[in-house]
Amino acid sequence: MSLSVDIRNAENFAKVGEVMEELPAAHDTLVNGTGAGNDFLGWVRLPFEVDPGELSRIKAAAKKIRSDSDVLLVIGIGGSYLGARAAIEYCVSPNYNLVAKDSPKIIFAGNSLSAAQTAEITAMLDGCDWSINVISKSGTTTEPAVAFRIFRGLLEEKYGAAEAAKRIYATTDRARGALKTLANTLGYESFVIPDDVGGRFSVLTPVGLLPIACAGIDVDEMLEGAREMAETAGAKSPENPCWRYAAARNALYRAGYTTEINAAYEPRYRYTAEWWKQLYGESEGKDGKGIFPASVDLTADLHSMGQYIQQGMRNIFETVVSFGSSGADVTVPFSGDNLDGLNFLAGHTLDEVNSMAAAGTRLAHVDGGVPNIGVSVDRPCARSFGELVYFFEFSCGLSGYLLDVNPFNQPGVEAYKVNMYALIGKPGYEERRAELEKRL
Ligand code: PA5
Repeated sequence: MSLSVDIRNAENFAKVGEVMEELPAAHDTLVNGTGAGNDFLGWVRLPFEVDPGELSRIKAAAKKIRSDSDVLLVIGIGGSYLGARAAIEYCVSPNYNLVAKDSPKIIFAGNSLSAAQTAEITAMLDGCDWSINVISKSGTTTEPAVAFRIFRGLLEEKYGAAEAAKRIYATTDRARGALKTLANTLGYESFVIPDDVGGRFSVLTPVGLLPIACAGIDVDEMLEGAREMAETAGAKSPENPCWRYAAARNALYRAGYTTEINAAYEPRYRYTAEWWKQLYGESEGKDGKGIFPASVDLTADLHSMGQYIQQGMRNIFETVVSFGSSGADVTVPFSGDNLDGLNFLAGHTLDEVNSMAAAGTRLAHVDGGVPNIGVSVDRPCARSFGELVYFFEFSCGLSGYLLDVNPFNQPGVEAYKVNMYALIGKPGYEERRAELEKRL
């Protein structure tokens, strides 16, 4: 296991030791399933309980898609979108669709209600062989449901209903929801999202594993990384990296640092930070409480958000994920004319320069009053992605219980849906519509 957590620059700012004393109880609550939301703890044991039959079916579906499709259209939103995108960008590249040679392009749809995005994707599919993986736990979420209706129509137009049905893979609840009904009626191959795994904790279920396998990523390695981390996370010890992270961030929160900025010096981490924002935002932001999760891409955002981080309101702390190696070997060349004055860097690898930028920035930010938690992993790959996923999930469960909220529900997500349904005229929402129309 390569992951480690450095909390020295949090201990300078807050009483981490005091919160650490609460960790044994939070740990027991999570592991013994005695806390709020305990019917959504399936992710805790998930890496140890992967169904080999289901995994083989995922791999077989991925193999078929890789052999008969230029494009896989992945339709989903929130937890049914971010994890797969994060994994593909992290393990392969943010430019996956440009660099993947023997794998289908992966296009994500149904994560907005944008007509422009939908039209653009439609144009991109023209002339391609393609398949759909539609993902929705509830099977009723508006954004992916609308996208699926549109793209299913296009697929049926291209291949005919029978062949289209063989190119549609539905990942959803085992029994409930409109998507399950569609899959049963039209004979789509289906994958089950376990009842006790919530959307934002579902990347290591078929929700993430099918698109990730289609991208040619080794899902066994990813699950192995998660398993290793799960073993480490299970230890009741102040050395447990999840305890260290959960204690540090909660101590900082209690000391007034209410915004956490997740950052890395690798562009391929960007969507992992997006996934992390959903995980922590939906798990902690309730009952008028919770750390606000934000993210930046470094060094790029040192030239935009860097000013704020260095000298803005002092309610922020950073969690910086760093890698032992980028996995690429690039050296700054010597220049005979040295007109750019960069010969002092000649012979250094870009990894060295990047890590010096990271170290210098960390010290500057700490000096500027920004606490820092460091999370280090070996290099970006399927295994370290699995480690990071489980590390952040387990730490999130602990943090939620330290904060005394139910980390596994998201009641606030419903409010916008009710208003949207009312305004768009969904049957049953007439009264709300009348109320809202007066206010508009
Ligand atoms: O974490 C969650 O449960 C949510 O953010 C969901 O992932 C999101 O709303 C999508 O839901 P569904 O998979 O039911 O379409």
